[in-house]
Amino acid sequence: MKQIIIITGAGKGIGKSIALDFAQATNKKNDFKPVLILASRTASDLEAVADECRSYGAASDIIQTDIADIAQIDRLVTTTLERHGSIDCLVNNAGVGRFKVLGDMTEEDFDYTMATNLKGTFFLTQKVFAVMEKQKSGHIFFITSIAAETAFKSSSVYSMSKFGQKGLVETIRLYAKNCNVRITNVMPGAVYTPMWGEVPDTKKNVMMMPEDISAPVVQAYFTAQRTSVEELVIRPVCGDINE
Ligand SMILES: NC(=O)c1ccc[n+]([C@@H]2O[C@H](COP(=O)([O-])OP(=O)(O)OC[C@H]3O[C@@H](n4cnc5c(N)ncnc54)[C@H](OP(=O)(O)O)[C@@H]3O)[C@@H](O)[C@H]2O)c1
Repeated sequence: MKQIIIITGAGKGIGKSIALDFAQATNKKNDFKPVLILASRTASDLEAVADECRSYGAASDIIQTDIADIAQIDRLVTTTLERHGSIDCLVNNAGVGRFKVLGDMTEEDFDYTMATNLKGTFFLTQKVFAVMEKQKSGHIFFITSIAAETAFKSSSVYSMSKFGQKGLVETIRLYAKNCNVRITNVMPGAVYTPMWGEVPDTKKNVMMMPEDISAPVVQAYFTAQRTSVEELVIRPVCGDINE
């Protein structure tokens, strides 16, 4: 069956891995014909991911989008509907982090983080949820973080944004139950992705890899429609990397 799946932040890291895992499922599941809508700010990243997805037989469409800009969110949703007619799944993955001690955080750090993680995630969810509410079906994933419920010294603003995302998850669940929409909050610990910048080998060796998150996400999508995997908490086996 044709499934229209929007993945934000699909150009790198966890979002890229989710796109590739959905694409690879095309060959493993006879009735799964995904159309992957890949969104992020960097077109060249999206082109590379789309090519790889197509090599697995998955239709892929690129809509370059900055989710911090409401007009671009509108364009992402309307263009998806014009081209493909429905939205079956949204993976709210795009996110940014500025990691510094409390006293070094600037107003620009605050506004930059909140614009993507909170404002962008809220308004994209609002618009896509309206579509799913009418359809009476759909699945929304939020890639929040363990920082949505645990504080770290260098993550004050990031944690605020992730706690806020968790508030949105809990609110949207209240609406989703009435219209057959599934909501999954994914809370990963440390994953080795470009978000971390340079990482020494000692740290890298204890971090998770993007595929450790994308595999359970795709599996949650394929659970029976009557079932909602509400939360996935995924940590490195050694626990949190405290920073
Ligand atoms: N890595 C971890 O340890 C970890 C742990 C827990 C949760 N998470 C969460 O997982 C998600 C993905 O993180 P990651 O580690 O994969 O990060 P990443 O490697 O930095 O990738 C982030 C992706 O989001 C896109 N993006 C950022 N801001 C955007 C915006 N305003 N509009 C559209 N796309 C945007 C980036 O592309 P462009 O820059 O080209 O737009 C990129 O494709 C984030 O929400 C993050 O908070 C990460």
